[in-house]
Amino acid sequence: MASALAVGIHDLSFATTEFVLPHTALAAHNGTDIGKYHLGIGQRSMSVPAADEDIVTLGAAAAAPLIARHGSDAVRTVVFATESSIDQAKAAGVYVHSLLGLPSATRVVELKQACYGATAALQFAIGLVHRDPAQRVLVIASDVSKYDLDSPGEATQGAAAVALLVGADPALVRIEEPSGVFTADVMDFWRPNYREAALVDGQESITAYLQAVEGTWKDYVEQGGRKLDEFAAFCYHQPFTKMAYKAHRHLLNSNGHDTDEARVARDLALTTAYNTVVGNSYTASVYLGLASLLDHADDLSGRAVAFLSYGSGSVAEFFAGTVVPGYRAHLRTQEHREAIDRRETLDYARYRALHRRSFPTDGGDHPTPAQTTGRYRLAALRGHKRIYETR
Ligand code: CAA
Repeated sequence: MASALAVGIHDLSFATTEFVLPHTALAAHNGTDIGKYHLGIGQRSMSVPAADEDIVTLGAAAAAPLIARHGSDAVRTVVFATESSIDQAKAAGVYVHSLLGLPSATRVVELKQACYGATAALQFAIGLVHRDPAQRVLVIASDVSKYDLDSPGEATQGAAAVALLVGADPALVRIEEPSGVFTADVMDFWRPNYREAALVDGQESITAYLQAVEGTWKDYVEQGGRKLDEFAAFCYHQPFTKMAYKAHRHLLNSNGHDTDEARVARDLALTTAYNTVVGNSYTASVYLGLASLLDHADDLSGRAVAFLSYGSGSVAEFFAGTVVPGYRAHLRTQEHREAIDRRETLDYARYRALHRRSFPTDGGDHPTPAQTTGRYRLAALRGHKRIYETR
């Protein structure tokens, strides 16, 4: 039964890496026509983590501004969503909990289902808030997208974290019931425990994504969702920017709607500004799309926004949110712009060296070079333990 309590995203902040690789550098290295990257997949550059950055430092950097603004008193749960996990047992969110100095009276857990994990975290958080509306849940989506060097996936890497504070009477976006959900057992993208880089069947992954779009929409309609024309914008999972365009055209086509370019651009363009320069941020990607939309759109107060979250393997969800009047006073547009602009541009050789870097597995003391200028850094791997420090 639908509840009258409004629950949703009260605050949102994202962080990205110290470094950036322009696609021109990748194209010069592998002889690809730059048009394929700039137009074909819609990417200009991708974020690259420093040697002392990972999903924990990115997650902490994304979440710190939320705790600074709202305090931690109401936060009793931290859900950390990632598919580039750093430990098979310990939740990355426990390190973030420590770096942010959150109270011990907190539950912390990590969630995984490829790029869909953050949406599961958001929905679970909404359930917790319905159970106790005085509580807020900190959802952190943090990922480093890594494919093999010289593989087709290499151009679709990236890294970022988005932190969402979920609560009652939210200041940004009320998340609506119902959701359309979809699961299919496909091997389009996966990462066995012994691999750092993901494996992917590129064309199969695009087909699987499009099938999930149809599946979630069908279920969304059956659950009594909104009509397609009611949405002011559509935030898709963006493994590369053009995938959102493929997905949206597919959704419109399969519903007998016009797919003229002006309509598609109106529905999508403002959601892609960050992804185009950050690249694939896996679990964070849909919410990076939301940040881009809210930071760039004219007033969306009272308007409905659609979300399509896709995680390979595959699980997907289509749901809607309503933008809360007055939301613009709470945005972090300037900080988001700075997070992108502050990145140092790498040449291809430095990027390649960072990509190849991994810790020895001998249990010794392995300090990391001090590269990040961010507040949180991975200082070492010592006795198989990750050592973080705050500046
Ligand atoms: N000028 C303009 N466009 C050009 C061009 C040029 N000179 N050369 C090629 N293109 C276009 C192609 O026509 C193509 O466009 P369409 O798809 O619209 O036809 C586009 O550029 C890409 O070209 P290819 O398909 O030939 O590229 P590719 O074989 O190198 O693979 C890819 C592209 C499959 C996306 C690959 O980068 C990849 O495997 N990426 C990782 C997987 C991925 O991101 N999958 C997305 C769905 S899965 C998901 O969403 C979960 C997740 O996060 C991974």
